[in-house]
Amino acid sequence: MKILLAFVIAVIIPSISSLLQCGEKNSGVFDNSNFYPWYKVCVDITKSETYFTYHTLKPNTGGLSTYKRPNWKTKLYENVGTSYNMKLQFENYEKLGLPYINGTDSIYFVHFHLVPAGDFDTKADRDSTFYVENCVPGFQKINNGNWLYIEDKVKSSAVHKTEVITGQFGQLVLMSTSGQNVSLTLESDRVIQKKVRYDHIKVPEFFYKIVRDTVTKEGYVIITSNNPFMTEFSGPKMCKEDNCAVPEKLKDFSKGYTYCCNFSEFAKNMKKNFKLDFTGIIDVNNTIDAKIVPV
Ligand SMILES: *[C@@H]1O[C@H](CO)[C@@H](O)[C@H](O)[C@H]1NC(C)=O
Ligand SMILES: *[C@@H]1O[C@H](CO)[C@@H](O)[C@H](O)[C@H]1NC(C)=O
Ligand SMILES: *[C@@H]1O[C@H](CO)[C@@H](O)[C@H](O)[C@H]1NC(C)=O
Ligand SMILES: *[C@@H]1O[C@H](CO)[C@@H](O)[C@H](O)[C@H]1NC(C)=O
Repeated sequence: MKILLAFVIAVIIPSISSLLQCGEKNSGVFDNSNFYPWYKVCVDITKSETYFTYHTLKPNTGGLSTYKRPNWKTKLYENVGTSYNMKLQFENYEKLGLPYINGTDSIYFVHFHLVPAGDFDTKADRDSTFYVENCVPGFQKINNGNWLYIEDKVKSSAVHKTEVITGQFGQLVLMSTSGQNVSLTLESDRVIQKKVRYDHIKVPEFFYKIVRDTVTKEGYVIITSNNPFMTEFSGPKMCKEDNCAVPEKLKDFSKGYTYCCNFSEFAKNMKKNFKLDFTGIIDVNNTIDAKIVPV
């Protein structure tokens, strides 16, 4: 074992895999098209749910001095645009007895990038990350908190071409003011008028990144909670031993409690808990697509 990254202990990740299953019991669709030149998504279109994304990161890239973010676009999902509307969120959560999701202290849901715009260097490439298929609902407090730190560290620590899978698991449950457990979704405004499918977007309980150096074959898994109200760890633990070496800030519950896993243990637990198979990680030649497409 050696420290690959400033804050994670990396281990060899069993290479060259055949399988990276897309969705529970292969229910997802792995988007292989050339719509997105630099990344791929594993999605369930009927649920407007993205399981994970895959991209590669090149080291030592400069970045843009200024960058103006575009509006979010949609390619595969229907009608998720309105779901992130803040006013709609607050009205909806108030009705559900969650009035504390009201925008105060960055407590509201944003488009939580899976492939970070900042991992790419040109405006066009960055703009291509602003598809709703490349995001899931995450609290702004966490997006701007530990997740931002992690994205920066993953990028700045890459010394070779690096493969990154970014995904989510679980569904966030919060307690209402009357003590009920509420499973969180985002709802589009269509739902309020008329129940239609595609409109209930699951809010994940956790996010993760699997990061693997294509030369050393070493990698690690980082897991961040989407629950800023946690006061002690709850939810499925994907490994026994926390491999995050430093720093303590990653343990701040309000900014997204973070821990790091041994890949094989994480893979085993993903399969056990969520029927998601990570028997290995991506092919060294970056050709996962051919093997995954389940449909
Ligand atoms: C929002 O929720 C917080 C936490 O419950 C509360 O302190 C604050 O007064 C609320 N703000 C508004 C505008 O309702
Ligand atoms: C809410 O969920 C927690 C954790 O699963 C459980 O311990 C608690 O009993 C639940 N509360 C209610 C009111 O269902
Ligand atoms: C990963 O965890 C498993 C199960 O705890 C253990 O057997 C294995 O040695 C660990 N691998 C590394 C490289 O640390
Ligand atoms: C990767 O590419 C090299 C060179 O083309 C080839 O020899 C090797 O078999 C490939 N590996 C896999 C797993 O496809």
